[in-house]
Amino acid sequence: MNRLLIVSNRLPIKITKQKGDLSFERTAGGLATGVGSFYKSYNSLWIGWPAVNVRKNNLEEKNRICAALREEQCHPVYLSPYDVKNYYDGFCNNTIWPLFHYFNHLTEYDNHQWKVYKKVNEAFCETIVEVANPDDTIWVHDYHLMLLPQMLREHLPNAEIGFFLHIPFPSYEIFRLLPWRKEILEGLLGADLVGFHTYDYIRHFLSSVRRILGYEHSLGEVVTGNRVVRADMFPMGIDYQQFAGAVSEPAVQEEIARARGQYGDRKIILSFDRLDYTKGIPLRLEAFDAFLEKKPEYRGKVSFILVAVPSRTAIEHYQALKQQIDELVGRINGKYATTNWVPVHYFYNYLPFEALVANYKLADVALVTPIRDGMNLMAKEFVATKTDGRGVLILSEMAGAAPELGEAVIVNPNDREAVVEAIETALTMSEEEQTERNRIMQKRLRRYDVTNWAGDFINRLDDACLHQQTRSEQ
Ligand code: F6P
Repeated sequence: MNRLLIVSNRLPIKITKQKGDLSFERTAGGLATGVGSFYKSYNSLWIGWPAVNVRKNNLEEKNRICAALREEQCHPVYLSPYDVKNYYDGFCNNTIWPLFHYFNHLTEYDNHQWKVYKKVNEAFCETIVEVANPDDTIWVHDYHLMLLPQMLREHLPNAEIGFFLHIPFPSYEIFRLLPWRKEILEGLLGADLVGFHTYDYIRHFLSSVRRILGYEHSLGEVVTGNRVVRADMFPMGIDYQQFAGAVSEPAVQEEIARARGQYGDRKIILSFDRLDYTKGIPLRLEAFDAFLEKKPEYRGKVSFILVAVPSRTAIEHYQALKQQIDELVGRINGKYATTNWVPVHYFYNYLPFEALVANYKLADVALVTPIRDGMNLMAKEFVATKTDGRGVLILSEMAGAAPELGEAVIVNPNDREAVVEAIETALTMSEEEQTERNRIMQKRLRRYDVTNWAGDFINRLDDACLHQQTRSEQ
């Protein structure tokens, strides 16, 4: 196969600098973890931002970073603090992120930040043009780089270019609010194949393309003058074996034993997310509060483990949310705690892999109730660790994972009564039923794991390009 250039905002390696010394860590998050699990099995190079600030003319440091990243099949695109503020914190996470997750009231429309978004997409384009070979396959990921496919098309007209969106594509009525809607769609249509997690996101994208750009579509194909662009569905999977296999690892077993000692024989409800307003953490805490209020017989018998991973901490809405969660946890614990029982165990921290798997395995119930979520890989990871079949997933119908995980207890996260009832249903479900539901979901998740997801995308991208060639030769 040709070389694969993977392009995303973040690299799988995050560099930090302390007093001039560089240290290298794994990047957290769905994209980095998922793509990070298979990219080395391809002849690939991953291009992205190493999350470190390097002065423009510090060539010595740049060379050092470049050499270290090369060992990991990675190549850097540097961003200045000004770019990070206006592109990453700004346009990506104060415009696209809230809007595409239907948080219209949090969306800012700032022309200056849009210009910096364009400038950063151009910087990515420049780097790719420098390193690309003519027959490389280029796979661009996520909302940070939606202009890039068209920019690349202008420089490399015959390149094979794929794009995958890891977040929802919103309905036309939401998308049309964006002042730069036309440019974003044209940017995406520079690709040969545009991939989404769910069928609904494709539908929304195609509807916006037709209504905003006037291009008709048929069977997922858009004809744009002399090119055909395909839109297709690829629900991202997880590294199933990694999660299922880790359960029996000694480090995980030790962690489980330690935690068991702490929680005793109480039932455990787990909530694990990046600290993000789309995840619905306050609603979830309020539902737990209502559960304890309405069903006092469970007081002292369940522990709620709340893990919130710090994320986008420079952004005001994230800071305000952190404060709201801190207060809610305090309020619930103040209301119900006794001398030997704390209802909510709250961790504002990144969990290492072994601790994460131990928490999944330990939990009787996972409460995964985002208000809106492109996919939600944690729901899948939880199911994969249930190697003995026991454990119940409560999943929001607003998560992209819901159509695939229909055997979970599906809830509307805004319906507090329904979430309260779902918690009780999960806590009282028979072991036979838990095992049967998990068995069906596990089979599905094992079959379409992250490696198959990538293979499927790349095969269909090859196919789309072949089709394009045949068409232009006619
Ligand atoms: O869900 C979209 C996404 O970009 C993921 O791919 C990633 O894991 C997560 O958001 C984290 O985002 P950030 O790069 O802003 O930390």
